[in-house]
Amino acid sequence: MTDPTIMKYLPTLETERLIIRPITRDDVQAFYEMDSQSEVHIYLRGQPVQSIEETKGIIEGLHQQYEQYGVGRVAVIEKATNQFIGWTGFKYIDELTNNKINFLDFGYRFRKEAWGKGFATEAAQACMAYYHEEMKHFPIHAMTHIDNKGSRNVLEKVGFNVTDSFHLAVWDIDCYWYEINA
Ligand SMILES: CC(C)(COP(=O)(O)OP(=O)(O)OC[C@H]1O[C@@H](n2cnc3c(N)ncnc32)[C@H](O)[C@@H]1OP(=O)(O)O)[C@@H](O)C(=O)NCCC(=O)NCCS
Repeated sequence: MTDPTIMKYLPTLETERLIIRPITRDDVQAFYEMDSQSEVHIYLRGQPVQSIEETKGIIEGLHQQYEQYGVGRVAVIEKATNQFIGWTGFKYIDELTNNKINFLDFGYRFRKEAWGKGFATEAAQACMAYYHEEMKHFPIHAMTHIDNKGSRNVLEKVGFNVTDSFHLAVWDIDCYWYEINA
């Protein structure tokens, strides 16, 4: 029998142009194509994935998070093409980050062909509406490279405010730290 706590916070959400749903092993090729684009990693660690095997490992790791916490990053599918264009959603952070632990990180990563069309914001609006309806009891933060203007715009459009900056040691980048408006 399926454990009822599993997938608890992994619903399928629908917006005008997008379907947002849990990532499956069938997403591996499109996930790899997105995550191997060097432009996608400019404000991340600068390390695009190198192989399908690496992406398979990332998806297994995501499924472990789904099982452990009932939450994790989710796929964004463009309805018009039925293509996986990226991921968004909530990751449960269980390692000390900017002196905080046990919180949800909100984030996203889209293939470069999907930028500049409002998809990231449309997906973020749906996720944050779901957060406010169902998940408000979890503390939530977001973080982004201080020069990642596109990402900062998305966060600010869905109600996040900068409250701090810090050095994200694991990626060796300077980040802004965001909290949501009360
Ligand atoms: C960060 C990232 C998701 C931002 O993507 P984006 O496409 O710029 O963000 P949005 O979906 O909000 O699109 C906004 C742009 O689409 C344009 N747009 C076009 N059609 C639109 C529509 N129908 N609705 C809204 N905006 C639309 C807007 O004018 C806006 O452009 P502007 O910022 O120049 O004004 C993207 O750059 C990315 O995936 N980067 C790589 C990974 C990454 O850095 N992730 C964040 C780590 S913290």
